Amino acid sequence: MKSITDTYRLSNGKTIPCVGFGTWQTPNETAVESVKNAIKCGYRHIDTASQYGNEKSVAQGIKESGINRKDLFITTKLWNDDRGYDSTLKAFDKSMKELNLDYLDLYLMHWPAVGKDGDKINHETWKAFEKLYKEGRIKSIGISNFLVHHIQPLIDKAEVKPMVNQLEFHPGYTQPEIVQFCHKNDIVVEAWSPLGSGSVLKNPKLTEIAKKYNKSTAQLCIRWCLQNKTLPLPKSVTPERIIANTQVFDFNISDEDMKMITQLPKMGFSGLYPDEN
Ligand code: A2P
Repeated sequence: MKSITDTYRLSNGKTIPCVGFGTWQTPNETAVESVKNAIKCGYRHIDTASQYGNEKSVAQGIKESGINRKDLFITTKLWNDDRGYDSTLKAFDKSMKELNLDYLDLYLMHWPAVGKDGDKINHETWKAFEKLYKEGRIKSIGISNFLVHHIQPLIDKAEVKPMVNQLEFHPGYTQPEIVQFCHKNDIVVEAWSPLGSGSVLKNPKLTEIAKKYNKSTAQLCIRWCLQNKTLPLPKSVTPERIIANTQVFDFNISDEDMKMITQLPKMGFSGLYPDEN
């Protein structure tokens, strides 16, 4: 990857810009400005979710950016309360209205349904995703926070395989089993909280390695995601950080440092376990 507009190729042949702008925990008051600003700084991939409560403001930011819709890649997600065939179709329409879009680039099931009927509910929900995909209303479909034991049953019955799995992934929380499974199955892994929601940035080892490359710890984390072939979704409402988080294409982390970062002990975990949602 050489720039923020370089892309990963999804299993259906579509492309997705290799860094996305995250909006989790971005309130409406700051979402318009930060999305507009991010697009001005070169981001072309915006990630939101109905659960974030900011789809309308994200849409406003996109509108005010003046960038052509077709030059943007927009993701939103189906919330847990809306699982099931009919409710998914309804929730999708609502998100599209909030986002003021007539097609979506990527729709994700936000969390797997778990427990006795979990696989059945995921399958019914997925059927609605497949319908919307086949109708062309969504260009690519995927899941989020699915572990191997959630994804395998879904794939076994699916007509269309998920193209993306969005997971918590940052130094100190690397989920190797599911990441390897996705890579083996041609599913692009997106990294949510690539900075551990900011909590890993003061880690002395990361700070020391970042210094060596003349980069900030945040830039090191984002670059580390890319070199792990994952797609980072850094979130910021701060203009200088929004720009800084794009400046990750002029250095290369050595194999040795990559290994050292990957082997850091558990830190920055959100505490959100897919089996408890
Ligand atoms: P803010 O939005 O106030 O700028 P993650 O992407 O892992 O969810 O992390 C987001 C958190 O990290 C936010 O609190 C954000 O703060 C902070 N953050 C984002 N980019 C940087 C950066 N370059 N340097 C320091 N903190 C950052």
